[in-house]
Formats: sequence, structure tokens, C-alpha cells
Amino acid sequence: MKTVRIGIIGFGNQGSAYVRMLKEGRIRGGELAAVCDINEEKLNAQCEKFEVDCPRFTRHTDLLASGTVDAVIVTTPHYFHPPIVIDALNAGLHALSDKPAGVYTKQVKEMMDVAKQHPAQIFAIMFNQRMNRAYQRMRQMIADGALGTIKRVNWIITDWYRSQSYYDSGAWRASWKGEGGGVLFNQAPHQLDLLPWIVGMMPCKMQAHCHFGKWHDIETEDDVTAYMEFPNGATGVFITSTGDAPGTNRLEILGTKGKLVCENGQLLTFYENAVDEREFNKTYKGGFGAPEVTKKVLMRRHNIQMHQEILQNYVNAIRGKEPLKVSGFDGINGVEMMDAMLLSQWLGKMVEMPIDDDLYFAELNKRIETGRALKAETGTVLDTKGTY
Ligand SMILES: NC(=O)c1ccc[n+]([C@@H]2O[C@H](COP(=O)([O-])OP(=O)(O)OC[C@H]3O[C@@H](n4cnc5c(N)ncnc54)[C@H](O)[C@@H]3O)[C@@H](O)[C@H]2O)c1
Repeated sequence: MKTVRIGIIGFGNQGSAYVRMLKEGRIRGGELAAVCDINEEKLNAQCEKFEVDCPRFTRHTDLLASGTVDAVIVTTPHYFHPPIVIDALNAGLHALSDKPAGVYTKQVKEMMDVAKQHPAQIFAIMFNQRMNRAYQRMRQMIADGALGTIKRVNWIITDWYRSQSYYDSGAWRASWKGEGGGVLFNQAPHQLDLLPWIVGMMPCKMQAHCHFGKWHDIETEDDVTAYMEFPNGATGVFITSTGDAPGTNRLEILGTKGKLVCENGQLLTFYENAVDEREFNKTYKGGFGAPEVTKKVLMRRHNIQMHQEILQNYVNAIRGKEPLKVSGFDGINGVEMMDAMLLSQWLGKMVEMPIDDDLYFAELNKRIETGRALKAETGTVLDTKGTY
């Protein structure tokens, strides 16, 4: 197939990163063919800054109808991901949504329903952290049974500190009307996707304590501690915040045969039991004592251009050169997780998963109706390098 002509919809912080990758020729077989941003002044300034000379549009529908692109990357604020992806698919184009897939499960399911009607078009999502080799190795080991039966999953992911100036840089940020959530919807979607992907199962119950505007002058959550239960009886704790400095990124998965620990998404250690703990429990007669453990460092550092790898795969999949690595259909899991956390806080109880889509949407709408009015957009563009 010929070169894939790509349109970027949403030319802000992250859109700039994709524009750079395409302009620098880092995506083989893909070219930047059009850009779109609803804010015309910003669009023009961005085109000048990045020396973009392809067609530009202020309405995504005009870009989709222009015949200038084969595929789009949607990197607007989250609420717009599903409706724009739906329009792109219905226009016969391939579509990649940035994370999260959307804000509420109902809209993500609508997008999935439309994608199912277009099986010949590629429907993808930017879960760049799925390309992290340590997380891939953990997933593979668990699938191969190296950990035995999963008992506990703990993730403290608080190493994306954000100051007030970050929140003030965009009117949509951390507001019910503009973003629909806070740290769960902007920073944590990567880990909320990875967690069930790595352990191979979704939780079935969730109880979360979400603190709204605890560390910043914002409406939405910036500090969350969630407890979850899985169908096999395993439990988990997920902690995230944009207020911790220094922060932590530590993922621990405990199974009957041992424990995997990944620190900072890099250092991966396996603590392997000589005997399965359940077997030891039944057979050991010595009172005090525990299975013998061997510590193995499996990986130390592994740098990878994760976004670039996802975009390269998107283009390759469109050209029929390799299968899609991360399907857009996978986007529902993370949204289910984040929505369950907020719903649990709003209802003040543990919620069953999957959640009630209509109830969530109604509860979200209450916050939108009574929430702050959106401020005027500032047009600020921040450099995202090193932030993911
Ligand atoms: N995958 C990653 O690592 C990663 C990193 C950062 C951001 N993101 C995602 O990218 C998205 C954008 O984040 P950002 O930090 O770039 O925000 P941003 O505010 O810098 O950029 C968003 C842009 O979209 C434009 N826009 C808004 N509504 C639009 C519409 N209907 N049509 C066209 N343009 C529209 C805005 O004017 C703005 O320029 C978010 O969903 C975020 O979660 C992903």
C-alpha cells in the first residue's frame, strides 16, 4: 500500500509530539497530511512553530471530508475521543484514539459499536506503555503460570507530580465539564489499562477513596486510594496522586509461586518460592517458617520509544504489514476501572464491576451541572517530553 496520509486532530501538547514524529520521518510509511484544532489562533501558531505546511482545519468534520487523509490520530481532550473516532470511522478512515478511550463507559461502548460495523478499518488506541518490555514480561510470566494463582496486586503510581500551573494551562483540565475527572483520567489511564492486561483479569468489585482538589485548586480527584477484588478472590490496592513529591512507581504482583516487583517501570525482580505457598501451607509441619525464596533481577533498564512504536504499528497495520498490537476495543477496561473508582466514592460504597453505565453517566452529569464554569482557553502549549 502507498504511504498512509495521517491527520492529527487536536494540535496541543501531545498532538505536537505526533506532528514532530511524522515530520521527522520517524514513522516509516506514514506522512503528516492534515492538522486540525478547534482553536484557530493556536492552530496557526502551532503550524508556524512546527513548520507545518499541510492543509489545516478548525472543524474535524471538514478534515474528515477533505479527502486529504487515510487515517487520523485523535488527541483532543478526552470527551471528544469517542465522537471524533466515530465520525472518522463513519467517514471510511482508520482511527487511533489517544488515551483514555473516553470519559464514561456509555460513550466508549457507543464507539465500540460503531467500530464493530467497520471491521476493515483499523481502530487503535495510544496505550504506549503496553510497549514497555518489563510489563510485557510480567504479563507473559503470569500467563505462563510462573506466579501460580494471583493473590494480590498493589500499584503505587504517584510519580507524575503536577503543579497548579499545569492545571491552569488548559481550561478543560481537571474540571467536570472539560475533562470529566482528574488524575484517574489523565495520568493513570496507562496503569488502569495495564493492570488488568498484566494480571489477565478485570476486578469484579471496587471501593475507592477519591479526594477532590486535595493538593490543587481543581474540581476533580488528585489523590486516590482504591481497593479491588478479582473473581478468583485476589485483592488489590491502587494508589495514585499528582500531589506527591517525590513520588513512587512500584507495582507488586503476588502469586502462590512468588512475587514480581517492577520499580519505575524499569527494574523487574522476581522472588520465586521453592514450593507453591498453598502446598507449603498444607504440608509444612514446623510452625514458624515460610517457603524458601530465590531473588532474581530479570531486567534493569530498557529504553524504548513507546509512542513511536505504537504509531509505527498503526501505520504497519493499515498497510497490512503486521497485526495491530493494541486494539481500540481494549480501551473500555481502563475507563471501566476509573469510572468504578469515582462511582464508588460518589455512592460511598463498594461497587460491582462492570458498573451500571447509565448510573455513572447520571452521576457524572450531576457534577457537570453543578460544577465550575469553564475558564477561557489560554492557548498554552507545554512540552510533554519526559512526562509519560
Ligand atoms: N499517550 C500519552 O502519553 C499522552 C500524553 C499526553 C496527553 N495525552 C492525551 O492527549 C489528549 C490531549 O492532551 P494534551 O495535553 O495534548 O491537551 P492540550 O490541551 O494541550 O491539547 C488539546 C488540543 O485539542 C484542541 N481541541 C479541543 N477540542 C477540539 C475539537 N473538538 N476538535 C479539534 N481540536 C480540539 C484544543 O484546542 C487543544 O489545542 C488527552 O486526551 C490526553 O489524555 C496522551
